[in-house]
Amino acid sequence: MAVPNEIRDRAAELRERIEDASHHYHVLDAPTISDAEYDRLFKELEDLERSHEELRTPDSPTLKIGAPPLDGFDKVTHAVPMMSLENAKSEDDFRDWTERLRRRLGDDAPDRFVLSAEPKLDGISMSITYENRVLVQAATRGDGETGEDVTANVRTIRGLPLRLHLDAPARVEVRGEVYVTKAAFETFNSQRTEAEGRYVNPRNFAGGSLRQLDSKITARRPLRIALYQLVGAEEMGLATQAEALDRLEAWGLPVPRDWFRQCASEDEASAWFTKLEGSRSDIPFEVDGMVLKVDAIPLWAPLGARSRTPRWAVAWKFQAQEETTTLNDIIVSVGRTGALTPVAILEPVFVGGVTVTHASLHNHDEIDRLDVRVGDTVVVQRAGDVIPKVVKVIVGARTGEPERFRFPDRCPACDTPAVEVEDEVVVRCPNPDCNAKVKARIRYFASQDALDIQGLGEKLVDQLVDEGHVKTPADLFRLDVATLAGLERMGEKSAENLVAALDRARQTTLPRLVCGLGIRHVGEVVADILAVEGRTLEGLGAMDEEILAAIDGVGPVVAKSLRAWFDEPRHAALVSDLDAVGISYPEPERATAGTLLDGMTAVVTGTLPELSRRDAQALLKQSGAKVASSVSKSTSFLLAGEKAGSKLKKAEELGVPILDERAILAWLNGGPSPLP
Ligand code: IVH
Repeated sequence: MAVPNEIRDRAAELRERIEDASHHYHVLDAPTISDAEYDRLFKELEDLERSHEELRTPDSPTLKIGAPPLDGFDKVTHAVPMMSLENAKSEDDFRDWTERLRRRLGDDAPDRFVLSAEPKLDGISMSITYENRVLVQAATRGDGETGEDVTANVRTIRGLPLRLHLDAPARVEVRGEVYVTKAAFETFNSQRTEAEGRYVNPRNFAGGSLRQLDSKITARRPLRIALYQLVGAEEMGLATQAEALDRLEAWGLPVPRDWFRQCASEDEASAWFTKLEGSRSDIPFEVDGMVLKVDAIPLWAPLGARSRTPRWAVAWKFQAQEETTTLNDIIVSVGRTGALTPVAILEPVFVGGVTVTHASLHNHDEIDRLDVRVGDTVVVQRAGDVIPKVVKVIVGARTGEPERFRFPDRCPACDTPAVEVEDEVVVRCPNPDCNAKVKARIRYFASQDALDIQGLGEKLVDQLVDEGHVKTPADLFRLDVATLAGLERMGEKSAENLVAALDRARQTTLPRLVCGLGIRHVGEVVADILAVEGRTLEGLGAMDEEILAAIDGVGPVVAKSLRAWFDEPRHAALVSDLDAVGISYPEPERATAGTLLDGMTAVVTGTLPELSRRDAQALLKQSGAKVASSVSKSTSFLLAGEKAGSKLKKAEELGVPILDERAILAWLNGGPSPLP
C-alpha cells in the first residue's frame, strides 16, 4: 500500500527540521532547539520509517546512527585522481614555489599571486559525491586512483549534511578531511581499556573509525569533517578558492573557515603561517602545516600537475614536533617538594624548533608503562613551550635485551630513603635539608613569577648552596659583594650586579612572595587571591584552615596545604626572617569592587595589544564583572584581541557584543559605554 501523502510530507518535514537543527548544532555551534525536542523529532522519524520502509531515503538523518554491518568495503575508482601535495619545509621552499609558478606562467603570471591559505588538517582525506543534492558515496583516497567505499560510515559524521541545503549540479564531488578534536581523542582513549586497545594519535583514530565494518560503531566515534575542495569548480564558473569554499558552505558543508585567509602577497602568507604555527597548540585539532593554493582557479589548469601533485598548491609544513633519537641515560632529579622525577638524557635531536637533550619521564609508573630502557630508540615530542617528553619506545629497534630501569629507593642527592605517598604516583625525598630540594626551592623563589632576581642562575644557586652560604630564601639577602666575588667564576662586577639585583627584588608584591615560597597547590592565581585576603604574609599564616577553605578560589586542598606549610616551625621562622632581611611589599588593595560592570559576564580571548589576558580579567573583575571562560547567550560582551578563534566566532553567531581593548579601557576610564 502506498504511503499516504500526509505521512510522506511529515517525513520530509522531519528530515528537513532534523538536518537544520543538526547543522545549527554541529556546524554553526548555535543550537536552535533543545536536545529533548531533537530527540522527539528523531524518534518520530524513526517510527515512521519503521512502519513505512519506503520512507528510508538515502538522506535520512536516521542513517547518522549507522546502518547494518558490511562484509567488506567495495572499491571505488576516483573519476579524478586524488592527488597529494608537494611539501615546503621552510620559507625558502615556499618562496621557491611561487618563483617556479611565475616562471611557468611566463607572461601570463599575475603581478602578485593571491594565495588562499588553509590549515593542513591532519586526518584522513575523503571524497564525497552528491547526486541530486543527496549524499550517495564517500570514498577514501586509497592509492589516489582507487579507494574504499565508506559511505555508511561517513554518513554518520556529525555536521555532514546528507542532503545539500541549496541547489547543486546534478552530480558534484567534494573533498576534505575527516578528523577528530584533540580533546575528544584524549577522552576516547582515556575511557578505553588496555585490552580494547588505544589509538596512538588522532589521525590513527580517524582512520580506524572509518574502517569499521559496522557503521553503528563509527556513529559513536566523535568524528568531524571539513571540506576544502570542490571538484570541477572551474566548470561551475567559480573564480577563486575563496568562492569555492563559500559555495561549499552555502551547501551546508563544514569548511576549514577558522584559519582560512586570502593572502594578497607572499609576505602576507608568510606572516599568516607564522601566526598559525604559533597558535598550533591552541587549535582544537591536529594541524601539521598550512596549505597554500593559488586562489585564482583559472590558473590551475595552465599550471597543471606533476605525477602525483598539482603545481597550484603546496603544503608548508610546521616544524616536526616528534623525532626519534637514542636514550643515553636515565637520571633522577629532585624537585622542590622532594618529588623524584626521572629525566631522559637524549642524544641531541632537533624537534619543535630547538635542540633537545633532556626529556621528562614523569614518574616510575610512566617508565613502566613505556618500558623504556637505556639504549632504546625513543620518540620524543615537543609541542610549543611544553617540556619535551618521551612518548614511545621503538621496541623493534632494540638490540639485545637491555636491562629494565630500576627506580632508586633512596634520594639520589642525600641518600635518605625515599617515601611513596599513598594515592600519589610520585616518590619523594622526605629530608627537608636535602641539598637538591634546597637548591630547587631557591631557584623557584628567584624565578620570574616569584621574586624575579636577575642574574641568579642555576649554577650560581648550586654553588651558593653547596658552599653553605644559602640555606633558605632569606639567606640570599644577606649575601655581600665580598662573599659573592670569592666564588668561582664570579668577578667583582657580577657580584655587585647581583647584590644590586637582590636589593631591587627586596621591594616586591605579596602575590610574588607567596608564590615564591613554593607551597604545594599555590600557583600565581591562588597567590593573588590569598594576598588580598591575608594582607600580609603573617596575616595569611594566622588564618584557620576553615576560613582559608571558604575563600572563593581556594578550597580545602589548598587550605590544608597552606596550613601545613605555615605550621612547620622552620617555615614560621622563614616568615619572620624574610621580614628581618627587609623584604617589603605594598599592602594589596582589596579590589574595591567597582560597580560599572556589576551583573555583567565578560569573556576574554585572543592576544591583547597591551594587557596580558590575566590582567584584563583582573581589571574586569575589579570593575564588578564576572569573568567566564566560554561564550554563551548570557555573555554580556567578549573582549577580543588578535588570534581570537572559536570564541569570537561563537560571539558573532550569538550576537554577543565584541569589544577591543581600547574600547574597554576608555569605558573603564569614564568614557561612554561601547555596548549597543
Ligand atoms: S588540498 C590536490 N587542502 O593533505 C590536493 N589538502 O599531504 C588536494 N590536507 O591528501 C588537497 N588539509 O588529505 C588540501 N586544506 C587542505 C588540506 C589538505 C589537509 C591533506 C589531504 C592531502 C594531504 C596532502
